[in-house]
Amino acid sequence: MKPDRDAPVGVFDSGVGGLTVAREIMRNLPSEKIVYFGDTARVPYGSKSKENVIRYSRQIIHFLLEQQVKAIVIACNTASAFALDEVRDEFEIPILGVIEPGARVAAKETKNKKVGVIGTEGTISSGIHASYLKKLNPEITVIGKACPLFVPLVEEGWLHDPVTLEVVARYLQEFKEKDVDTLILGCTHYPLIRSTIRDFMGERVRLVNPAYETALELASLLEKEGLLSTGKEQEEFPYRFYVSDLADKFKAFANSILPYDVEMTKKIDIEKY
Ligand code: DGL
Repeated sequence: MKPDRDAPVGVFDSGVGGLTVAREIMRNLPSEKIVYFGDTARVPYGSKSKENVIRYSRQIIHFLLEQQVKAIVIACNTASAFALDEVRDEFEIPILGVIEPGARVAAKETKNKKVGVIGTEGTISSGIHASYLKKLNPEITVIGKACPLFVPLVEEGWLHDPVTLEVVARYLQEFKEKDVDTLILGCTHYPLIRSTIRDFMGERVRLVNPAYETALELASLLEKEGLLSTGKEQEEFPYRFYVSDLADKFKAFANSILPYDVEMTKKIDIEKY
């Protein structure tokens, strides 16, 4: 049976970071309703094994299906890297990850064919960006680097702090030396320190924000599947947020980055799924 086009889109992440993707969906697809799940009890995914991240992703998809979503966006880069292929084969619902949309834009934008990718240890060790980019253009050289300190700095709210600038410089110096002209911000949190990264890398390096590119890709996917919302069904809470731990902490972070006051946040037991 075809899903209802006015059903919500399910978006999930290991925690709060995926709100950068939800935010782009809110901005670019304002008629769409969203059910967001942040796995705050099991975050971070970036240092977990592929096996566990696949298991977590499956459980979350079962939960989102119970919420009757019409499509699912894996907002977490690590979960997209490790689990997208597996779950796409298992579930009938359209599922989109954040890696392909970012890689596609990077392949199009790079002039000197040197693309940098930053992300969690899991995302970088998966080598998934390199395999997409090489498929799109075998001449592209891909340089990946895990930047694990960025996530806690962002969650601490140190977006423009001198300490963050120092860490940015330590991690990204290599990309300058290797002359990359395009850098993929391959982790949910990194768009929030984009301006600090921009200050260090300079105006000539194109920064790719997969959160934005994924929202655009979601629009094309929904259109292609005949699932774009009619926008007619209004709801009191068009955006619903679920977490696996500490709903109040999540709410505070969400309210600091979303253009919308988060009201409905609920804790659920994800291990049940
Ligand atoms: N959401 C994760 C990602 O985009 C970052 C945080 C984590 O390690 O769970 O890879």
